[in-house]
Amino acid sequence: MRGISPAVVILAGFLAAVSWLMAQEGKRTPKYVGVEKCISCHRADSLGNQFRRWLGTPHSRSWVMLQMKKAREHAHGMGVEDPQKSLLCLKCHATAAEDTSLWYRSFHPEDGVQCEACHGPGSVHAELMMEQMEAGGEGVPEGAMLPKPKGEKFCLTCHQGAPHPVEKFYYKKAWKRICHPLPKDR
Ligand code: HEC
Ligand code: HEC
Ligand code: HEC
Ligand code: HEC
Repeated sequence: MRGISPAVVILAGFLAAVSWLMAQEGKRTPKYVGVEKCISCHRADSLGNQFRRWLGTPHSRSWVMLQMKKAREHAHGMGVEDPQKSLLCLKCHATAAEDTSLWYRSFHPEDGVQCEACHGPGSVHAELMMEQMEAGGEGVPEGAMLPKPKGEKFCLTCHQGAPHPVEKFYYKKAWKRICHPLPKDR
């Protein structure tokens, strides 16, 4: 009896691996893609330009700020050498600092507290919205919805318990400073 050629066995193994990989891809684990992947759409005035709103808030500078003298002073008191490298600071001054395995290559910690710090990893939303816009559809398709965190309690995950003095947090006032609605008349 003739055996199966090794080439066929290798090919079959290769195809199985490819189909496994494609199945994994199909599940689309959301990744942190960074604000640069949001701006192609969310910089448009017709969509409310959430990007410009965010850029004008201290959240967009929260990582850069960690370079300043004052930050180094805060850090020094805690035995932290470089605040831009320490989770003790980054957990509030950046996005997904504790989740680096989910960073996509377009992700930049330099962007500080960006969209995905509050809305979660956005790769699937960005991809599906792109597909839908190319197809001429409207609204948010199935599976593309991102969490929209609600209320003061969410903000307090960072606006309370910092290892340095902070201003008292007034939720209504603070929200007014950072809110970034979609236009009502779309
Ligand atoms: C290809 C265009 C496109 C890209 C890229 C995109 N969005 Fe969106 N997004 C939209 C549109 C359009 C809507 C409004 C949909 C509607 O309600 O009609 C939206 C809605 C949203 C919403 C509110 C609805 C929801 O899902 O909860 C959030 C939050 C959001 N986007 C965040 C992001 C973030 C964060 C990124 C980057 C990681 C991003 N978007 C990238 C097009 C895009
Ligand atoms: C629990 C969240 C949290 C952690 C952890 C944190 N910060 Fe902050 N930080 C904040 C918030 C919120 C503000 C805004 C303060 C305000 O509104 O008064 C802030 C503001 C600052 C400021 C500007 C205000 C000031 O005091 O001059 C500096 C500098 C700073 N942080 C440095 C650091 C450093 C360095 C670390 C790490 C050793 C760190 N932060 C860790 C939440 C945090
Ligand atoms: C500090 C947290 C935070 C950051 C940073 C942030 N958002 Fe939001 N965003 C929220 C919250 C909270 C809501 C929900 C408001 C509500 O339900 O009324 C929201 C709502 C939205 C909505 C829906 C608005 C509507 O009218 O329904 C969009 C779109 C959105 N965000 C996009 C973005 C984009 C794009 C970025 C980055 C450029 C971003 N957000 C950054 C907290 C944040
Ligand atoms: C991931 C952590 C994080 C979350 C969540 C967060 N913030 Fe912040 N926020 C910061 C940090 C850090 C600063 C300080 C940035 C700086 O000064 O460089 C800040 C600064 C601010 C400031 C400016 C404060 C000042 O006195 O200048 C406002 C306003 C603000 N946040 C509103 C909010 C609101 C409203 C929410 C909830 C919807 C929220 N933030 C959620 C980390 C966070």
